[in-house]
Amino acid sequence: MPGLAWLPAAVLLLLSGCSPARGYFAEERWSPESELLAPRILVALICRNSEHSLPYFLGNIERLNYPKDRMALWVATDHNKDNTTVILRDWLVKMQNLYHYVEWRPKEEPRGYRDEDGPKQWTDLRYEHVMKLRQAALVSAREMWADYFMLADCDNLLTNPDMLWKLMGENKTIIAPMLESRAAYSNFWCAMTSQGYYKRTPAYLPIRKHVRKGLFCSSNGPLHLPDRPQERGVQAAGLSPATPRIQLGF
Ligand SMILES: *[C@@H]1O[C@H](CO)[C@@H](O)[C@H](O)[C@H]1NC(C)=O
Ligand SMILES: *[C@@H]1O[C@H](CO)[C@@H](O)[C@H](O)[C@H]1NC(C)=O
Repeated sequence: MPGLAWLPAAVLLLLSGCSPARGYFAEERWSPESELLAPRILVALICRNSEHSLPYFLGNIERLNYPKDRMALWVATDHNKDNTTVILRDWLVKMQNLYHYVEWRPKEEPRGYRDEDGPKQWTDLRYEHVMKLRQAALVSAREMWADYFMLADCDNLLTNPDMLWKLMGENKTIIAPMLESRAAYSNFWCAMTSQGYYKRTPAYLPIRKHVRKGLFCSSNGPLHLPDRPQERGVQAAGLSPATPRIQLGF
């Protein structure tokens, strides 16, 4: 049976053709270790009537010092009276190949909430809708096994390109940079009333004015977060613990 006898020779040829072996022993063929890949991060952008800030906001996202192929973008926009949807869509079309993954959730109608007097008002319906979007983004982040989840409103200008590395380097489960505003307002509270609202304490202004600097922890939950029940559900199911989150905006 000559056919069988030829077989080993043919296999050997194929194998050596595939991998040009530099050494006979496995140790000799090892290449130096490649660099570790950056953690995977899902960036959720929830935008409304942001035509005025989008050019600055998106420019800052582009300039983040972070490998785009390790980032996923989750972008939702609705209830717009301006051209937010068009600007975001055009930007995503140009950018999508650079990022690991892009999810696009536009909604043209309605252009406002039933219970609002104007687009600046935070009504119950608006809060409910935005919380649902944030929750959906968090679920997407978990489903794609993202290591980190960042939530930003489209008027939070990320002026420090190293922000992601800096925040990740603190090794916290949830972290946020202090956002600058022209007034006393910021995205952290320091304390909370029993109704769960902002409470002014002596600690607030020195931090806000950069007199006291550092990383401040609060057990009062000063950041607006997506619902907790979902998170407990995930943990109860024996899956991963909460995805570390970088939270921006209000
Ligand atoms: C949207 O952009 C177009 C083209 O630049 C402009 O003509 C139109 O007025 C804009 N619409 C709104 C609602 O700003
Ligand atoms: C975070 O963890 C890394 C890796 O364990 C460590 O090198 C780094 O010093 C930690 N950072 C802080 C602020 O503790």
